[in-house]
Amino acid sequence: MLNGVNLNMLGRRDPTQYGGITIAELESRIYKWAREMELTVQCRQTNSEAEFIKWCHDAYDNTDGMVVNPAAWTHYAWSIHDALEPLKIPVVEVHLSNVDEREEWRRTSVISDVVAARFAGHGPDGYKMAMQYLKEHA
Ligand code: DQA
Repeated sequence: MLNGVNLNMLGRRDPTQYGGITIAELESRIYKWAREMELTVQCRQTNSEAEFIKWCHDAYDNTDGMVVNPAAWTHYAWSIHDALEPLKIPVVEVHLSNVDEREEWRRTSVISDVVAARFAGHGPDGYKMAMQYLKEHA
């Protein structure tokens, strides 16, 4: 479960887009859902694109499926596209906000052709939907 740039600031960002949840609260919800779904999950967040990419590389051998919210990187970071591309596991893209109904530049996802599914605009529940998807498809 990889969360990208600025998502550590949840709780202080625009509540109309992201609600009031903090990253710690989000992660503890994810761990609770994982227990209920009998999934083993590791949550990580970084503001470093290089670190995010390293974690994508690590997933190649060690992971059955991945949920990613690359945040703003989604819209321009072809480096993340290329890191995800070789993975043979299902990758699910999640966004808290409905990126398709926000500014024009948020409507582009450079990872759309390397993900198996996408959930946007469902708030934290989008992560649960992604986990459910992986439970069924990984
Ligand atoms: C986001 C949407 C992105 O456009 C934005 O840059 C984010 C968060 C979301 O979860 O809604 O930081 O990925």
